[in-house]
This record gives sequence, C-alpha cells and structure tokens, in this order.
Amino acid sequence: MKIYHYKSLNSTNIEAEKLIKSGIINTNFSVVNADFQENGKGQQGNFWYSSANKNLLFSIVLFPQNLKVERFFDSTKIVSLAVIKYLKTKGIEGKIKWPNDILINDKKVCGILIENTLLGENIRNIIIGIGLNINEEKFPEEISKKASSLFLELKKYFDLNSELNELLNIFKLVYNYDKVKIDELYHQNLFRLNEEVKYIFDGQQLFGINKGVASNGQLIMLLADGKKHNYSFKEIEWII
Ligand code: BTN
Repeated sequence: MKIYHYKSLNSTNIEAEKLIKSGIINTNFSVVNADFQENGKGQQGNFWYSSANKNLLFSIVLFPQNLKVERFFDSTKIVSLAVIKYLKTKGIEGKIKWPNDILINDKKVCGILIENTLLGENIRNIIIGIGLNINEEKFPEEISKKASSLFLELKKYFDLNSELNELLNIFKLVYNYDKVKIDELYHQNLFRLNEEVKYIFDGQQLFGINKGVASNGQLIMLLADGKKHNYSFKEIEWII
C-alpha cells in the first residue's frame, strides 16, 4: 500500500482525484493522507472538522475489476465494517449509521465520503475518504454534542501513523471477505436494526422499523401500514 503523506491539503479526496487523473496513482489501495485539511469535504457539501495533527484524514483509492455501477454500495459496507473492527481492537463497540457514519454511543466518531468514477456500466475508480476522530479533545460548540473521538472515549492518546497502518491492514482483510459475510457482519453492526426510528421524508416526520440495507444501498423501512418502503441516500434525514 503506497501512502502519499501531506502536512496540509485542501482535501485528501480532491488530491486523490488529481493524482489519479495525472496517472501518479494507478494501483489498488493507494492512500492519500494529511495532517490537516483546509477544506475537508463532508457529506452533502458540509465541511469536515478536524484540528491539525489530531485525527486520521485519508483517502483510499481502489481500481475495481469489472464492478458494476449497481454495486456501488459494496465499498461503503467494506469500509464501515473495517472501522467497526478497528474500534473493536480498542475495546469499543461502534455502530454503523446508514449510510455513511460510524457512531460510538450515538455520537459520530467517523465520517465516510465515497466518490466513484464511472466508465460505462462499470466503476472505474473509487475514492474512499475517511475522517476518523482519534486525539481530538474538544469539538466546536455546534458539533460537540454529536461528535466523539477515541481520546474522549478512552482518555488516552494514540500515535496517528500506527493507527493508520492498523486500520489499513484491517481494511485489506475485510476487502477480501466474501460478499455474504460482509453483508451479514454489516447488518450485525447496523445502528438501530429492527428498531423503531424517527426520520424526515419529504418534509414530514415519520416512524418506521429499520429493516436493514438492500444490496443497492437503499434503506428498507417497515411502515405503520405494514408496507415496506426503500429509501435512497439523501432522501431521508434521521432524527436520533
Ligand atoms: C461526512 O460528512 O460524514 C463525511 C466526512 C468525510 C471526511 C473525510 S476526511 C478525509 C477525506 N477527505 C475529505 O475531504 N473528506 C474525507
């Protein structure tokens, strides 16, 4: 695994994209990592907060062979599981909140931003951006109630390089699991599986039972009328 390390970058996802375009990155599992991002990208145009030298900020690049566009959610499952497995090695039980967050006791410890480049019906390359809060001691007021870090959970500091290597090794391991095993483990660690959840859809507040995630990445919700409804990314907002 080749790691391209920078002290400061705009965003590791953007840098990874540039390095792919210029042909510098052309092998599976290449990694772009930074101590600080000036403009870390979060989901839905949000900013990803991280102080300098405190947390893991990196992007893993994959060049899948013949992976159909319909299977775009596979990479989300793999990386989510890898983070859960990594947290377990620290004695922490994390949960996967569909579609892209990893929580500890309902607080977000890791955000994932995946960007796919397509070629016809296939995915040509995948940039998996991961922001994992490790040594952050204090988050800004606006997010402090919903964000966490390993330091806040365990009251100890970690060496960022060793943690990056540990996580990358676990990622490679999970990447080689078969699809059935990945799906099973993914669901075992899914936040509020088979529980009633509150969410907003189309401006309305609704309740449903979370029945898991379909292979196309849609969330399956069992509604009060006994019917199942599948929701795509960005269609719903959780209320937790
Ligand atoms: C989210 O909003 O939950 C997704 C956050 C993803 C943040 C990571 S940090 C490393 C990589 N580079 C970016 O600009 N974003 C991702």
